[in-house]
Amino acid sequence: MFNAALEMRARGLTVYDLSLGNPDLEPPQLWKDAALSLLNSDERGRHRYMNNSGFPEVRKFVAEREASLYGVAFEASDVTMTVGAAGGLNVAFRTILDPGDEILTPTPFFTEYRNYTENHDVKLVLAPTREDFTLDVDAILSRITDRTRIVLLNSPNNPTGAVYDAASLDSLTAGLRQRTLPRPLYVVEDAPYRNLMFDGSTAPSMLGRYPNTLLVTSHSKDLALPGERIGYLLVAPGCEARSELNRAFEYWNRVLGFVNAPALMQRTLLAVLGQPGGSVDPQIYARKTQRMSQALGALGFGLPRIHAGFFLFPKLPESLSITPPEGGSRDVTFCQLLAAEGCLAVPGVAFGGEDHVRLALCVGDETVTGAISAFERVCGALRQR
Ligand SMILES: Cc1ncc(COP(=O)(O)O)c(C=O)c1O
Repeated sequence: MFNAALEMRARGLTVYDLSLGNPDLEPPQLWKDAALSLLNSDERGRHRYMNNSGFPEVRKFVAEREASLYGVAFEASDVTMTVGAAGGLNVAFRTILDPGDEILTPTPFFTEYRNYTENHDVKLVLAPTREDFTLDVDAILSRITDRTRIVLLNSPNNPTGAVYDAASLDSLTAGLRQRTLPRPLYVVEDAPYRNLMFDGSTAPSMLGRYPNTLLVTSHSKDLALPGERIGYLLVAPGCEARSELNRAFEYWNRVLGFVNAPALMQRTLLAVLGQPGGSVDPQIYARKTQRMSQALGALGFGLPRIHAGFFLFPKLPESLSITPPEGGSRDVTFCQLLAAEGCLAVPGVAFGGEDHVRLALCVGDETVTGAISAFERVCGALRQR
């Protein structure tokens, strides 16, 4: 999609690109100031290799922040600084999984999970969510087998925007606790959008609920730094094999070729996280997603109200006469028609959610305006057929 947009622009077309979760917001001024002052510092040796898990003072800082957030007694050794959330997920998967093991995740799901599971020769098992994309705990529990090693939760969710509520996490915890399995079953929370809740709260977590929980996150979205690749992996103190996991994460961070998370980025976090102005403003995304939701609702798309992040996953109206080619799907055809009107969106089938489209509203207001017009033109034409 990235290349498609570049190509369309090179042909002189105006592109309304809602296809990528690549924030158009700039990082906060506080972060820029912190980065500049670190770069200008005369202190020597700050850009060298380090312990593969990250700078000790950064790990301690993260552990203390997370402890106060979740009421869980993390230590610095429970934190591995990673190359984004993607790096953290791959380190966790390589550490925990043997070939043939299973990762169980609710669907629709972040497309890259399919690729990451292939990296480690394991199987991705999908559990459906409810109509409004909230968690179907029974669907998850009924798919656990002796080979399931990880339940992978992504909340707030990409692509659907769903946030899993405390009650469903309580019920998942109760269900998981009842299972006796030959090997430990870990919950891995992939939470790069957790700080983008519209009401300013933190998304509910399995941390503090289920002992075998790992959290993977990054500042790609809440500090608008996806290209800088800074994230971390956190082990709950109650995790089985806690210290082995922490040591193995250090090893795999190195051996998978990440070596360590970027040094400068790690140290900027000390000056930014938890400070006033130390985050992008989620309200900006709230406004854009609400505006788009209203326009889509008026066109007959079905979509639940979202409370975090910047993704929408609307369902195509039945009333549109979309005729996909043999073996094709309506969402792919719809996205092609949309692209012909200058608007890029991703077919839901890429996320395991056929008949939907995934829209990333981390774009400027003029792009939202252009995208709404493109949707109106395409829907208008499909209704006249
Ligand atoms: C659900 C989810 N997990 C992980 C990632 C990867 O994040 P990062 O860029 O920090 O590696 C993304 C990025 O879009 C995502 O949406």
